Amino acid sequence: MDKDLNEIIYSTPFLKWAGGKRKLVEVISKSLAGGDRLVEPFVGSGAVFMGTNYKKYLLCDTNADLIGLFNNLKNNTEKLLAETEIFFSGKFKTEEAFYELRERFNTLEAEDIKKSALFVYLNKHAFNGLCRYNNKGYFNVPFGKYTNPQLPIKEMLLFAKKAQIAEFKCLDFKETFKLVKKGDVVYADPPYVPISATSSFTTYAKENFKLEAQNALADEANKAKAYGIRVVISNSDQSITREMYKNSEIESIDVMRSISSKGSTRGKVKELIAIF
Ligand SMILES: C[S@@+](CC[C@H](N)C(=O)[O-])C[C@H]1O[C@@H](n2cnc3c(N)ncnc32)[C@H](O)[C@@H]1O
Repeated sequence: MDKDLNEIIYSTPFLKWAGGKRKLVEVISKSLAGGDRLVEPFVGSGAVFMGTNYKKYLLCDTNADLIGLFNNLKNNTEKLLAETEIFFSGKFKTEEAFYELRERFNTLEAEDIKKSALFVYLNKHAFNGLCRYNNKGYFNVPFGKYTNPQLPIKEMLLFAKKAQIAEFKCLDFKETFKLVKKGDVVYADPPYVPISATSSFTTYAKENFKLEAQNALADEANKAKAYGIRVVISNSDQSITREMYKNSEIESIDVMRSISSKGSTRGKVKELIAIF
């Protein structure tokens, strides 16, 4: 295959993301079957999108700022890159600038190009690249104290090119499942069921992902399977998730993850891949 084309098809995401699957794409790809379109109801940084080769993609998430960024990068690439470059010019590396820009971010609408540019800035300057909002919907991650955060220009350009075969929508996963049709393959990577009260538990978007939602996802997978659609789900590997996915084929994998709430301690945890 042409080297440039290969680079567009198989690349890595430009965002840091809690629970991102950059290092697991190969394992996950083996479980995903062929099909015309890959649907991801929990796209996050898009690691699986960037590491697989389908003709089309439907990529959704409830994080409106994230979907706004992906749509701006797809449809308004040059303008967004120019806006983003400004925030990586060196002037905004300080703690003071970080808090000012964080405040500005919180005043803007998700579709605004400035907000998308600031999303990339915050992703590279906030503590551990976390994306967390308070109950008013304000981004509230503290300054990350990185010495020289870089604009991921190459990865953003590759994402923008591949995004031309993708649709990005801000939807709850149940709405995304309504859009799934015959011939699609679904990869669902929800916020994980926490392993124990002391393990790292990340809050995504505005609300935690409750047990009810975990069960609803398993129901959606069972329904889709009954229509002949393959659904692959990632989650933590424990008795509760094995029970949830009892109608699937389960593979267990060892993964290195942050295991403390501060995100600084890493260790091996068991995750599962459920194939419906
Ligand atoms: C584990 S992350 C996905 C990571 C992604 N696979 C990657 O490689 O970066 C889970 C994602 O689910 C999203 N999310 C949380 N609740 C959701 C819901 N009810 N419906 C859709 N997406 C949701 C979060 O915003 C987050 O991006």
